[in-house]
Amino acid sequence: MKEQLEQIRQSALAALDAADTLAALEELRVKLLGKKGELTAVLKMMGKLSPEERPVMGQLANSVRADIEAELERRKAALNAAALERKLASEAIDVTIPGDAVELGHQHPMNQVLQQVKDIFVGLGYTVVDGPEVELADYNFTRLNIEEGHPSRDRSDTFYFDDNDAVLLRTQTSSMQIRFMEEHKPPFCMLAPGRVFRKDEADATHSPMFHQIEGLVVDEHITMGDLKGALIAIMQAIYGQDAQTRFRPHHFPFTEPSCEMDMQCHKCHGTGEVDGGVCPTCHGEGWIELLGAGMVHPTVLANCGIDPEKWSGFAFGMGLERMAMGRLKINDLRLIFDNNIKFLEQF
Ligand code: PHE
Repeated sequence: MKEQLEQIRQSALAALDAADTLAALEELRVKLLGKKGELTAVLKMMGKLSPEERPVMGQLANSVRADIEAELERRKAALNAAALERKLASEAIDVTIPGDAVELGHQHPMNQVLQQVKDIFVGLGYTVVDGPEVELADYNFTRLNIEEGHPSRDRSDTFYFDDNDAVLLRTQTSSMQIRFMEEHKPPFCMLAPGRVFRKDEADATHSPMFHQIEGLVVDEHITMGDLKGALIAIMQAIYGQDAQTRFRPHHFPFTEPSCEMDMQCHKCHGTGEVDGGVCPTCHGEGWIELLGAGMVHPTVLANCGIDPEKWSGFAFGMGLERMAMGRLKINDLRLIFDNNIKFLEQF
């Protein structure tokens, strides 16, 4: 029996050493230590031994069992470690591979022009303010001296929120004239850029949403000469000293007298023709309308609690997209809103 046990120990240790998977180890465990295993078979014969031999063999059998169990654990740990090693090697990340370059964007061309315009006005002492796009008809029309029934109030031109036409998407930044004068006493110079909304079909020069920049100056003895001087200086700062501009008489309910300012077309240089055909940018006019302006109507000043006998002022409202188109030589307004990356990357 002693030889048998030694034999089991030796062949077991050799087999365990050769096993190279966890499954093979488990198979061996059952075969060696299980109820039907070799060692159990030997132990079952213990009863036939003499009382002197039994403890000796018992001790030997226990030491064989302990050796096999220890070897099993050792092999299991070794196989697990090897498996982990392989997994780590196959999943290794090479941290020295260069990363993907991150492309930096830049300001939208329209905001570039807006920033430039703001800088010029801030340099002239204007205060830049912001106001609501959802506006009361009172601010957008009534207190600007635009009477009930005026065509610009029509539902076919203006986006209203309610049945009594009291709340709307502002159609002009001129609403900011009223909001500003309500809260500030003259003298002041303010600039109010922002979005405005009109029921226009989109084409090369129209969009249902566009941007305006409103300006308002109120002080003592302000005249039309101040208005012209300021606007010419500003346009030259934006478009260059030799930019050609002109003023035309116009009508706005909230200014008197009123005018519009045009700039010579950057495409045809005022001729109205390109390659023998009509200039597509100015439709043959030779001039592009930039803004509406005028002397603040005395009724509007009075509507805001400012004495028109003492104070006078001028106001203007310019289209930001028009300015950007002229500055950046863009000939279709829709390009500004499409946000095609290839287009934007040019600026
Ligand atoms: N609000 C006018 C428009 O949208 C422009 C304007 C502003 C005219 C200020 C006069 C004074 O056409």
